[in-house]
Amino acid sequence: MNEEIIAKAKEHFGEVLKEQLARVERMKAEKDFVDYEKLDQIIIGVCGGDGIGPAITAQAQRILEFLLADEVKSGKVKFNVIEGCTIEHRAEVNQALPDDVLAELKKCHVILKGPTTTPRAGDPWPNIESANVAMRKALDLFANVRPVKVPEQGIDWTFYRENTEGGYAVGSKGVHVNDDLAVDFVVTTQEGSERIARAAFEYAKKAGKTRVTCVTKANVVKTTDGKFLNICQEVAKDYPGIELDDWYIDIMTAKLVDPKRRTQFQVLVLPNLYGDILTDEAAEFQGGVGTAGSANIGKRYAMFEAIHGSAPRMVQEGRDKYADPCSIIRAAVMLLEHIGYADRAKKLERALDICMYEEKKLTITGRDTGATSAEFADYIMETMQKL
Ligand code: IPM
Ligand code: MG
Repeated sequence: MNEEIIAKAKEHFGEVLKEQLARVERMKAEKDFVDYEKLDQIIIGVCGGDGIGPAITAQAQRILEFLLADEVKSGKVKFNVIEGCTIEHRAEVNQALPDDVLAELKKCHVILKGPTTTPRAGDPWPNIESANVAMRKALDLFANVRPVKVPEQGIDWTFYRENTEGGYAVGSKGVHVNDDLAVDFVVTTQEGSERIARAAFEYAKKAGKTRVTCVTKANVVKTTDGKFLNICQEVAKDYPGIELDDWYIDIMTAKLVDPKRRTQFQVLVLPNLYGDILTDEAAEFQGGVGTAGSANIGKRYAMFEAIHGSAPRMVQEGRDKYADPCSIIRAAVMLLEHIGYADRAKKLERALDICMYEEKKLTITGRDTGATSAEFADYIMETMQKL
């Protein structure tokens, strides 16, 4: 009996390895990053997602259209609104990322994406993979860049979370060997680790940072985390002015709350799951996940998203128009910067800081006691005009 189930599990494992080896070949074949300046037209896809997603994403789109009005007029920039990345459609076709949506996404260069509902066991939806995760994999968006800043506390961190491997690469394809035994897979590749390490160091170099911190649990998860750490150490040799620190995830989680220690961290590079966890903790210092934006960068595509959930209850209660658009607008800042409009990115970031933390003429409460998302977007645009 055991022989049989072991053989079945082995077969499954074989399939997993085949898929991962094929992915490695695809990574190796990928060329350089897109040079947006050389493109005749940059296509920005706007994918609202579900729950409050469409409402807040529409506001971020308005702001981008306002800032890029000349480029839209001249044809250098075009917006494509992509429908269908909703939980209803995904459930209907039983796909984490429906083929028709993926085909539309692939026509764009960069994507602004609202939150999408991630089902879990027991939900009324089929337990399909997260659309975020599927999109990151399908478009090979390997670097999840998450900045966190609290200037008055000396916090200025940029996380480079590996975005396609680790516990996520085969996250929805573990094996239930039998009722007693379940096994998941953690994947680290040479190519995948090297490209994220290089992205972190390149950023550090460009931004004049002096330290990159690699976070793993290489003392216990020896094979995959060990490889990740070794590769970071190898890549570090190409960046003589930048020091590489090596921390374990448990103590790093603790040290982020140590006011003396935490100000020393600058750029952090880490495998997928640790990055997922640590960036939520980090965002909390800045006011929570609702205040942070996130860039998912690959060589051919890039996607920019809010890092909070889709808050379906707000929609059920008719409150989606009061949802806070600030996280997705932060993502829009990163999008502008990524496609080469750094000056406008700075302006939008400055206006956001003024509206959210300094002047605070309007507040968002998530209900009719506060401003609507559209009113807040107007406020940001008015503020930008004064800068
Ligand atoms: C994030 C989210 C996703 C992740 C979820 C929604 C699958 O938590 O972007 O950090 O785990 O990556
Ligand atoms: Mg997360």
